[in-house]
Amino acid sequence: MSDDLQQRIHDAIANPKNLGEMENADSVGTVGSPDCGDMLRMWVKFKEQDGKKVIDRATFQTFGCETAIAVASVATELIAGKTIDEALSMSGEDLSAPLGALPPMKIHCAQLVEGALRSALAPQPEAAKPAPPPAERAT
Ligand code: FES
Ligand code: FES
Repeated sequence: MSDDLQQRIHDAIANPKNLGEMENADSVGTVGSPDCGDMLRMWVKFKEQDGKKVIDRATFQTFGCETAIAVASVATELIAGKTIDEALSMSGEDLSAPLGALPPMKIHCAQLVEGALRSALAPQPEAAKPAPPPAERAT
């Protein structure tokens, strides 16, 4: 890994953006398996902008490596303001672009982020939706 890339990853994990579970998320997506250590979950909140549904913000949690944390941090910043189609058109390479080219052995870390994003942007099964606030729950 180049020193530059190492430094950018180090900077991103020293101050990761959008880390943590999001309350009131509109959708959530998970990829990987906690059993093998590589897991990434992404929460997304949408908003209306100029008559279009766009990503308001996204947050993540991961048991992946430092590269996965760094990619998720820059990716959640990149996708804010994008439509679902725009976000779905982004590859792991696009999502990690602010960090620079990743070495081959780290490409799957970016793909983990891409997979979690795709999962969060896919139509949500009822069970995966965040629970409604207590006041709206059927009694
Ligand atoms: Fe299991 Fe990477 S080793 S998802
Ligand atoms: Fe598997 Fe980075 S998330 S090595």
